[in-house]
Amino acid sequence: MGKYDPAVSNGWKDRERDDQEETGVKPSELVEIVSRVSAGAKLIVVSNREPYIHERVEEEIRVVRPAGGMVTALEPIVRAVGGTWIAYGGGSADRLVVDPQGRIALPPDDPKFTLKRVWLSRTEEKGYYQGMSNTALWPLCHIVYRRPDFSRRDWEAYKTVNRRFCDAVLEEAGTDPAIVFIQDYHFALLSRMIKDARPDLRVIQFWHIPWPNREAFRIIPWEEELLDGLLGNDLLGFHIQNHCNNFLETVGRAIESLVDYEHFRIFRGGHPTYVRPFPISVDYDQIGKDVESPEVEKRRNRFLKELEEDVQDTTVYVGADRIDYTKGILERIRAFDLMLSKYADTRKKVTLVQLAAPSRTAVAAYRQLNEELNEEVEQTNGRHQTEDWVPVRFLRAHHDYYAVLAACRLGHVLLVTSLHDGMNLVAKEFISARTDGDGILVLSQYTGASREFPDALQVNPFDLDQMADAMYAAFLMPEEERRQRMERMRNTLEKNNVFQWGGNIFAEVERTSSLEGIS
Ligand code: F6P
Repeated sequence: MGKYDPAVSNGWKDRERDDQEETGVKPSELVEIVSRVSAGAKLIVVSNREPYIHERVEEEIRVVRPAGGMVTALEPIVRAVGGTWIAYGGGSADRLVVDPQGRIALPPDDPKFTLKRVWLSRTEEKGYYQGMSNTALWPLCHIVYRRPDFSRRDWEAYKTVNRRFCDAVLEEAGTDPAIVFIQDYHFALLSRMIKDARPDLRVIQFWHIPWPNREAFRIIPWEEELLDGLLGNDLLGFHIQNHCNNFLETVGRAIESLVDYEHFRIFRGGHPTYVRPFPISVDYDQIGKDVESPEVEKRRNRFLKELEEDVQDTTVYVGADRIDYTKGILERIRAFDLMLSKYADTRKKVTLVQLAAPSRTAVAAYRQLNEELNEEVEQTNGRHQTEDWVPVRFLRAHHDYYAVLAACRLGHVLLVTSLHDGMNLVAKEFISARTDGDGILVLSQYTGASREFPDALQVNPFDLDQMADAMYAAFLMPEEERRQRMERMRNTLEKNNVFQWGGNIFAEVERTSSLEGIS
């Protein structure tokens, strides 16, 4: 057992992968990789959030794309590769459009995969989603000094719902071989349940949020069950190496297992789980096309109308987030306020346009944040606004994909100030959308994305003075420097697109299977 060394742990990056990194994997190449690896096995993807939600709006049924990184990243992959996606059917019209097995072909206008919806009762949703997932695991894994709350009742609901999804996976797999690709912290127990029933299925999981250090994680009363659950996976992915290291350390100190630092794998009951970093991304090429579409133009005009066009003569700072305390929205507004106080030349010359999607409002911490945000915006505007200038425009609504792209082009600067974030895909959407080669990214050093973009203006969101100074540096930055930085970020992202992410995961399934002698 060798000592852990990040250079050695990256040794699994083989030549083939380095070659691929020159151009970035294309959708057709990903399809090839997945077909080769799955060799006829079904692909079953599992997530809590569904890629398309059917909502009843008066007499109509509308299809809504949810806010959040997981769907943004995964949908283009499943669209390219096909298969079945199992998710919670939470929309008000979800039941009206599916077959008796809860299935529907999607996307609506050009079906490429099947969505199978799992129905949850209100009590199940409350315990598993609002409770265990978003009141316990979410704050536990994000180090933002928000205390997690643990409830035995929520834990019971979480187990029940993981079992329900396991039943759905087994039903979809039938007696055939399958590769099951599980998403996120809603399903820490699922891989173990699947493997107990069907040891022959290949099971992969990607954890879309950070994994904390062991000292932080150990307070959860069900540490052993959660870790044992995750070790049912054959391959477990995190965004960055640091989260993999934290996971190995947590397991090594918490439960009986053999941690192999040389190959970055863990044996539990003789079964190996390989642990790897896979930095998630977005569909760079598609965003570059979509940003020029009439849909985006429409949203842009709508914004300009709503903002009364008076933002146009100012440097526009944009934020686009779910309203979540991990995103550092309060801190961002405070730093913007500070910039206005510190640097008089910015007054009437800058605007902060914050797109804010209501999220998880059934959870108390999120409701409280909404109130705090209202106050913060009011106070900042109260301090600085003039007759013809409102410094902070807070647009609380669900903004669709095209609206986010429109905002990325409306803004001169994107503010990503997460206190802790697995990756942050808005940063990558912004870079992809800047086909004009301009734009500045202010990026929290506590996002996974900060590893890939040294050309962003990196900030510590807990340091308001530094953030205000970075915002001011963005205000002053000459065009030539902006363009140089953006060009380098775009080159990086072109290679590290979402198909590269998917390709790396499936190539690693192939590689680790052959190490284990599985054909
Ligand atoms: O990975 C973080 C995550 O929970 C994703 O699963 C999801 O896309 C996003 O945050 C939004 O959260 P929710 O599905 O709870 O609205």
